[in-house]
Amino acid sequence: MNPRPSLARPEDAAAIRSLQDEARAWLQARGSDQWSTIRHTDPASPRSLEAGIDRGEVWVWRDRSGIVATATLDDGADPELWTADDTPDDALYLHRMIVSRAAAGNHLGATIIDWAAHRAADLGRHWVRLDAWRSSTGLHAYYLRQGFQHVRTVDLPHRGSGALFQRRAYYPAGTRLDTFMKTAFIVGISLTALGYIALLVAFSVSDWT
Ligand SMILES: CC(C)(COP(=O)(O)OP(=O)(O)OC[C@H]1O[C@@H](n2cnc3c(N)ncnc32)[C@H](O)[C@@H]1OP(=O)(O)O)[C@@H](O)C(=O)NCCC(=O)NCCS
Repeated sequence: MNPRPSLARPEDAAAIRSLQDEARAWLQARGSDQWSTIRHTDPASPRSLEAGIDRGEVWVWRDRSGIVATATLDDGADPELWTADDTPDDALYLHRMIVSRAAAGNHLGATIIDWAAHRAADLGRHWVRLDAWRSSTGLHAYYLRQGFQHVRTVDLPHRGSGALFQRRAYYPAGTRLDTFMKTAFIVGISLTALGYIALLVAFSVSDWT
């Protein structure tokens, strides 16, 4: 069964926190300092998981065993990282993507990234963006393999994150919308070409008369 995305519900918060704790422990065991300074936020804070769930920004992927992945997708460009020159409103921002260790290694992360690119395209945005922990070079390599480009690295002493990546929003190949867009494009080109031919014929006919 392929895990499908759904919006997280308030009662999913505990399972999402477990995923976060598992990821932090996995990273620590690998010698990474990623997320080592991050603590669970007070549920009353607008930056908390609970507030994100209430705003409809937190997503989960479930299989028969329960929640196996989570990601937050919002349109809030972090003003410490993205500037006006980045046209920050032209993107959706992917945060806290985590796949459980039990489900890892099966391209679920790639599926989540494709889904985010699809949602961004649906909303008329041109980019999916994220900021990654600066020292997590293995993660940077992963995002480059997923088609992201490195935009720049913002080195703020009070932040561990700051490696900025973006990828084009698009409709993943083979989806109905992708087929629709391609068909619409081909029909549009064909109609334009037919219009030109009709004009040429009309002009040549008028020359003859
Ligand atoms: C990133 C993630 C969602 C991808 O899930 P996935 O598609 O199942 O892919 P995998 O877990 O197999 O990871 C792919 C590769 O990225 C590496 N990687 C993943 N997260 C990494 C991290 N935070 N730091 C360094 N390397 C990382 C993995 O070691 C693996 O490397 P390999 O191909 O050389 O074995 C998942 O690895 C994860 O939850 N990572 C920890 C949390 C995290 O860093 N999320 C990103 C926040 S910006």
